Amino acid sequence: MSRPKNDTFLRALLRQPVDYTPVWLMRQAGRYLPEYCETRKRAGSFLNLCKNPQLACEVTLQPLARFELDAAILFSDILTVPDAMGLGLYFADGEGPKFERPLREEWVIRDLTAPDPNVHLRYVMDAVVEIRRALNNSIPLIGFSGSPWTLACYMVEGGSSSDYRTVKTMLYNRPDLMHHILDVTTTAVTDYLNAQIESGAQAVMIFDSWGGALSHAAYREFSLAYMQRIVAGLKREQDGERVPCIVFTKGGGQWLEAIADIGCDAIGLDWTTDLGEARRRVGDRVALQGNFDPVALFADPEKVAAEACRVVDSYGSGTGHVFNLGHGINQFTPPENVRALVDAVHKHSRRGYSTP
Ligand code: CP3
Repeated sequence: MSRPKNDTFLRALLRQPVDYTPVWLMRQAGRYLPEYCETRKRAGSFLNLCKNPQLACEVTLQPLARFELDAAILFSDILTVPDAMGLGLYFADGEGPKFERPLREEWVIRDLTAPDPNVHLRYVMDAVVEIRRALNNSIPLIGFSGSPWTLACYMVEGGSSSDYRTVKTMLYNRPDLMHHILDVTTTAVTDYLNAQIESGAQAVMIFDSWGGALSHAAYREFSLAYMQRIVAGLKREQDGERVPCIVFTKGGGQWLEAIADIGCDAIGLDWTTDLGEARRRVGDRVALQGNFDPVALFADPEKVAAEACRVVDSYGSGTGHVFNLGHGINQFTPPENVRALVDAVHKHSRRGYSTP
């Protein structure tokens, strides 16, 4: 299998020459698109959508039909892994994700095992195969997983949290138990990402959405060390092509040098870090992905375009930048503003790359 016809995204991640800055958006398939809401209604629920490979493929393609995006991302969720570990994922209306059986008892934690992704997460692998077939090698497909720490937050809290009180109490009171959860989850995530790569994912991203909630010392010990183990265990080549790996710690701007050292190909940045400064700090070790403030998408289209140009310029010239949001797109975002964003990135960066 050769590279996709449009391989700009892969080239930027590997810091190979590109003609323009590639762009994709976290949560590009989601509720801001009326066609997504329509498919979700047909599926009955968000989880049914994730668990049905045909429908997951359908919604993956929806944003690509509207906008000139340079990558597709598998439609799924990071919480499918703990669901496969037996915690019982469900989505209560308006309350976000919840687990029927959060990790609280020591004996339950000691019994935790890593699922076989080709059995317990077969529906995800089937979706990857289906999406690759539908994309027909036009643009690359990104696979993903949550980081062990971020998954542990949901597994121990039993859902979203504002202060991570339960999971952090465990971290400080019973670091041995916390490390056990992270150890098993690291094996689960490594196997899961490798299965996605074997099924056809051409790049992978680790979402460490809650790494930024940790103290400086705890971040290295409880999040970064486990992501390092995952990166070391990933298949980095499939069908003769390098499979780049992106690590995104939301709120991780102060740890960029340490993240660059774990062996990933790119670092995802939220909007609080300047891209140019980040670039100077990591040098030529990794590419950077980000970091448009998703809420800036609520401004008028011409303001959105101007802000997109500012983000492109903040990285500077040359390859190594993948344009993205600093976090997932908000469900109330006007789709026409997303078009203004994508078009501005392409137009503005092409101009930059054409100068001698
Ligand atoms: O980027 C994409 O388009 C791929 C799909 C994707 C989803 N979730 C779909 C989704 C990805 C990559 C994720 C990752 C994810 N899921 C993360 C990491 C990124 C981040 O946002 O920090 C996290 C923490 C989750 C857990 C999760 N899933 C939460 C907290 C929620 C509720 C949030 C909300 O907006 O209500 C979900 C649900 C979810 N995952 C939706 C989508 C499109 C909305 C579900 C719906 O249709 O009701």
